[in-house]
Amino acid sequence: MMILPKKMKPLLFLISQMAIFALFLHLYGHNSNSPSTTEEPKPMHVLVLSSWRSGSSFVGQLFGQHPDVFYLMEPAWHIWMTFTHSTAWRLQMAVRDLIRAIFLCDMSVFDAYMKPGPRRQSSLFQWENSRALCSPPACNIFSRDMIIPRAHCKLLCSQQPFEVVEKACRSYSHVVLKEVRFFNLQMLYPLLRDPSLNLRIVHLVRDPRAVFRSREHTTEELMIDSRIVLGQHWEKLKKEDQPYYMMQVICQSQLEIYKAVQSLPKALRERYMLIRYEDLVRNPIARTAQIYEYVRLKFLPHLQTWVYNITRGEGMGNHAFHTNARNALNVSQAWRWTLPYKKVSRLQKVCSDTMTLLGYQLVRSEQEQRNLSLDLLST
Ligand SMILES: *[C@@H]1O[C@H](CO)[C@@H](O)[C@H](O)[C@H]1NC(C)=O
Ligand SMILES: *[C@@H]1O[C@H](CO)[C@@H](O)[C@H](O)[C@H]1NC(C)=O
Ligand SMILES: *[C@@H]1O[C@H](CO)[C@@H](O)[C@H](O)[C@H]1NC(C)=O
Repeated sequence: MMILPKKMKPLLFLISQMAIFALFLHLYGHNSNSPSTTEEPKPMHVLVLSSWRSGSSFVGQLFGQHPDVFYLMEPAWHIWMTFTHSTAWRLQMAVRDLIRAIFLCDMSVFDAYMKPGPRRQSSLFQWENSRALCSPPACNIFSRDMIIPRAHCKLLCSQQPFEVVEKACRSYSHVVLKEVRFFNLQMLYPLLRDPSLNLRIVHLVRDPRAVFRSREHTTEELMIDSRIVLGQHWEKLKKEDQPYYMMQVICQSQLEIYKAVQSLPKALRERYMLIRYEDLVRNPIARTAQIYEYVRLKFLPHLQTWVYNITRGEGMGNHAFHTNARNALNVSQAWRWTLPYKKVSRLQKVCSDTMTLLGYQLVRSEQEQRNLSLDLLST
């Protein structure tokens, strides 16, 4: 200290004063739990992982209508529709990077998958399913804490510029993405370990027999996706075999995801929740409460009435992408009286491992299939 030149002394004094001040701030900050010095709660990032026709629009809506959630439905649609002749395998890393960027509210990631030039928020696939894009700061017509019907939003908020999407995203405590275009968990490990994310995975599964029946009614709409999933097999398969092969891929991927979770370290396993669609429709209020609790969202009174209404009351149409929860319990059983046993039996052969693991009991005869007093759901 003493050998310092004279000129340095005031500087040294200043530095020491600053150090004391900083120390004071540090202690003061800790004592008062000031949010600027203690760890700020990060936004929660939730990935609803599911497959086509598995009730994921319904679950997506549970998140989408919550006033604390910025929700987007199937953003990877943009990638798949840009590379319709590619395969699910080849596109998976692009999908992962897209998901990560959106979680961080970086919407420039869509540049690669949208036409150049000015865009609106309505350039996003199924944007009107996101209440966040129908209320401030994205659109000032509706308020944040109301249930906003998609048709009203589509009519009144479609002219907003694309920039509002990012602005809206940054104003929420939860970013929730629903995606059906993932087929394994390994590729998501980097996201689970990413320190800039706080990721929770909600894995939604449904009885493959019900999925199969529902897919039969939407074959045309799912054609491009099916082709990307089946890849080079698409050309070789007979048309009537395609649905079974498709279900095999879906069932296999669910099995692999489930098994991959079991081998994760405990801390990461806690970031995963499995839900069966059937459990949800049998007990919508209680299950929704569990899901909300898992991702630390409040089950607000208006959401409770709304969930009650949509699972009991009037439906919202039959189109493939609508939240079709009309008499959801009955709909979830429809395969039992509409599918021929022959198809059920063939499907059970390709999906039996997954069904056993997830607790969907196989039927061994047409009689068992049609007998509705026989509960096929194991607990
Ligand atoms: C639920 O349904 C009732 C009766 O149709 C209706 O008055 C109410 O506004 C609905 N609530 C919500 C939140 O959808
Ligand atoms: C369920 O749907 C079937 C076929 O549409 C119908 O016959 C049956 O009465 C319905 N059951 C209930 C409880 O609504
Ligand atoms: C339907 O299943 C119930 C419950 O297992 C059984 O008691 C009943 O005998 C079955 N009915 C027919 C017609 O198979």
